[in-house]
Amino acid sequence: MKSYNIALIKGDGIGPEIIDEAVKVLNAVALVENFEVEYHEYLMGGSAYDVTKDPLPDATIKGALSSDAILFGAIGGEKWDNLPRDKRPESGLLRFRQALGVYANLRPTIVYDELIDASTIKSEVVKGVDIMVVRELIGGIYFGEPKGRDDNRGYNTMVYTRQEIERIAHQAFKIAMTRDKRVCSVDKANVLDVSALWREVVTKIAKQYPQVTLTHMYIDNAAMQLIRDPKQFDVIVTGNLFGDILSDEASMICGSIGLLPSASIGAKIGLYEPIHGSAPDIAGKGIANPIAAIASVSMMLRYALNEQVAANKIDEAIKYVLKEGYRTKDLADFGAKQICSTNEIGSIIANYIATCKH
Ligand code: IPM
Ligand code: MG
Repeated sequence: MKSYNIALIKGDGIGPEIIDEAVKVLNAVALVENFEVEYHEYLMGGSAYDVTKDPLPDATIKGALSSDAILFGAIGGEKWDNLPRDKRPESGLLRFRQALGVYANLRPTIVYDELIDASTIKSEVVKGVDIMVVRELIGGIYFGEPKGRDDNRGYNTMVYTRQEIERIAHQAFKIAMTRDKRVCSVDKANVLDVSALWREVVTKIAKQYPQVTLTHMYIDNAAMQLIRDPKQFDVIVTGNLFGDILSDEASMICGSIGLLPSASIGAKIGLYEPIHGSAPDIAGKGIANPIAAIASVSMMLRYALNEQVAANKIDEAIKYVLKEGYRTKDLADFGAKQICSTNEIGSIIANYIATCKH
């Protein structure tokens, strides 16, 4: 029987409780699809700092790199906000992305019809939205040198090399080929030299994908267009900082940040995580929405393990839950027939997969 070795990083806040549900669902789908999953748990973030004084212990990098894929919850919390920058949970995550070489961050935004009223945007504008933001993840202003600060000056450098732009562009065009074959590249080429290079390189790579339509948009206009008419977008490809901002904006089109998964992929390995944070204010209460974490398992099956049928089953089970009106508290006002705990949503999804006949 096929067996996969999954590195689990539960992290901080609601991380552990949502990952427990994701594991429950992965086990359920493994059983019906005839594969085995072996889990190894590692520490990252504040919970790692508390034990080892390091938000990213070496054992986590080593264990993650020797796995088939990594499933990750969330990190961070007020408790660790006053630590020096390099000890903060966020620094652990940034170092982790770099150590894994996961240069492409895929963040889908899908509007589920059942939750259309959860969006703050008019339903006719958001109905049917299906966008994939492809964010460059290990370059740009997050990592560029020089950077630093003294009392009077703080500075960072937005830098991209031709090679970094080429590989993210390839990723975006390949994904577009499996979707509606439209890529919008977002930059600030009217002002920034780094963006002028970005635009030139993306345009060049596009020639290798003649079926895909490429357009370009400045980041400020893209931020506006995303709210004005989100359906005009299929795949958005952009740099690290612009992608950070646009993907948060895109997530609100669908109304709840508790539903959306993400994948960070590179040449060696992929990291799969919900796009939401660790929500320390609701941690341990059993009210967190586990759907984003469960949808991240689906992305992991699809992109890392090539278990497409299993991934489809999870996607279907999520749609079932939403259609039947099972809701965690965050979505109580949107078509809820029954308010469920974190654990109950996980069980309903796992049971649906275990018993469904197709
Ligand atoms: C994200 C987060 C991170 C980022 C933070 C926590 C470092 O905002 O994954 O989008 O900026 O990349
Ligand atoms: Mg962000």
